[in-house]
Amino acid sequence: MDKALLSKTAAAMLAKGKGILAADESSGTCEKRFKSVNVESTEENRRAYRNLLFSTAGIEQYLSGVILFDETARQKANDGTPIPEYLAKKGIIPGIKVDKGTIALPFTDGETVTEGLDGLSKRLEEYFKLGCRFAKWRAVISIGENLPTHTCLYANAHVLARYAAACQVANIVPMIEPEVLLDGKHTAERSEEVHEATLRATYAAIAAYNVSVEHLILKTSMVVSGKDNPRQAGVDEVAERTVRVLRRTVPAAQPGIVFLSGGQSEEAATAHLSAMAAMKNLPWPLTFSYSRALQNPALKTWRGQAGNVSAAQKAFYHRAHMNGLAAQGKWKNELEKQAA
Ligand code: 13P
Repeated sequence: MDKALLSKTAAAMLAKGKGILAADESSGTCEKRFKSVNVESTEENRRAYRNLLFSTAGIEQYLSGVILFDETARQKANDGTPIPEYLAKKGIIPGIKVDKGTIALPFTDGETVTEGLDGLSKRLEEYFKLGCRFAKWRAVISIGENLPTHTCLYANAHVLARYAAACQVANIVPMIEPEVLLDGKHTAERSEEVHEATLRATYAAIAAYNVSVEHLILKTSMVVSGKDNPRQAGVDEVAERTVRVLRRTVPAAQPGIVFLSGGQSEEAATAHLSAMAAMKNLPWPLTFSYSRALQNPALKTWRGQAGNVSAAQKAFYHRAHMNGLAAQGKWKNELEKQAA
């Protein structure tokens, strides 16, 4: 384990005013997203779309890293360079999603555990050779009447920790992502309880498997109200509840925390991040690692048409810029008006 390399990667991922683009949608998820704008999800269309994002002029001012899907890590940029190398040349760290998705957890009411530990060390070695310097593994936690169960939290925490240990041995910074879904009618208070239980279970496993917290990044959901709850917590409440949970559970020794957007509107994801990053005396830097909240306006503008590429890049640049400000607690509503 090359601690100096891991520390250098983690510090670069958390550089001030920058965040991470999640572009690691599986082929299935890509199909869903593309279908919403009437684009066929072929390998070439996925390559063209990802290239549109990565080749946006100046995007490296706001992006420290990009999370790739296996297919993309093996594709070429428009200039023929392998994509990981193309990103690295721009000063953007290539990362890789290494989990293999979820399967049903027996004896639970529809809960899941994430798979992908088999053969992981070998795959990590290969990804390192391809230029990837950090990885992501997502676990899914649902809130419901009797959910999540201890079984679900326990099973996912253990695989997250084993994945993280394997990454560190391979000199790849692990990003652990236990995502608490915002689907449901629950209150923000209930979401806070579930986030706390999830993170406690996760960090107990991190300690049990001797994972180095100095070389680990948490990717977390925010504490928001269930999306079907008529009472939606406001920006300050979301920020306060999220930071309270994180302070209770995440070691101060960790280099940083990044957020997923989880289906929040683009502007809400930005406003929440800005409110949290503006708080004083946080033990870790906070930034974004969004997929939908960075990409949605670009995807809707692109619609698979080559003639829309530059307008789509403008929309993408704008969201990255807004979130770059939010990561420093400097975003304001009025700035949205200079929209792309
Ligand atoms: P969203 O920001 O769309 O939630 O995606 C982030 C992510 O990486 C999910 O695993």
